[in-house]
Amino acid sequence: MHKQFGAIALATTLSLTGTVQADPSLQANLEEGKGVIKAFFGDLKGELVKGMKAGGPVSTIATCNKVAPGLAEAHSQMSGWDVGRTSLKLRNPKNAPDAWELAVLQEFEARKAAGEDPMKLVKGEIVEEQGRKVFRMMKAIPTAEVCTKCHGDAIAEPVAAKLDELYPADKARGYKVGDLRGAFTLKKRL
Ligand code: HEC
Repeated sequence: MHKQFGAIALATTLSLTGTVQADPSLQANLEEGKGVIKAFFGDLKGELVKGMKAGGPVSTIATCNKVAPGLAEAHSQMSGWDVGRTSLKLRNPKNAPDAWELAVLQEFEARKAAGEDPMKLVKGEIVEEQGRKVFRMMKAIPTAEVCTKCHGDAIAEPVAAKLDELYPADKARGYKVGDLRGAFTLKKRL
């Protein structure tokens, strides 16, 4: 899903904190996408909490490593949307942002710096990719306390060792509570 280049914006951009403009399908798609994210995030969080309770962060790394991509795939199939996660500082290089995603991640950082609530940072846009109209959407993922066990700046030694083993190019560390860890990214052909 991160292979597209040169997305061309066709319609006005919709920011949830701004006014709804132009194409009413933007709003409908955004609402639908929010439902897809909610379901995906609910499952992810469930697995994370379960893993942390059962075995702590070291064993839960395996959960994130295997279960997160599997859940993204399952929710993509269930919803008909292309569902994933991305970030400016990656753990798994497979989650690398494409040009559109990179611009939105940077926009989210700027909007957060300008005072917007990180929990509400959302963007939806209709773009053209390879001659087809596509609805694209991202929603920011702020860092919570539990995330710092594996993404913070004081990661316990056995956790860091396991991360080093699985992700030799890991950049997803040093986050503080409230920082933007990344974003959900969704795509649907129109
Ligand atoms: C037990 C360790 C652990 C915890 C706790 C954890 N993560 Fe992760 N996180 C990982 C691993 C491992 C990956 C790589 C998953 C993969 O290979 O796709 C990852 C990947 C991600 C990604 C995908 C982008 C990237 O860098 O590859 C996001 C976004 C993310 N985590 C956010 C969070 C958030 C938000 C929390 C807290 C709610 C959290 N994580 C808690 C281990 C963890």
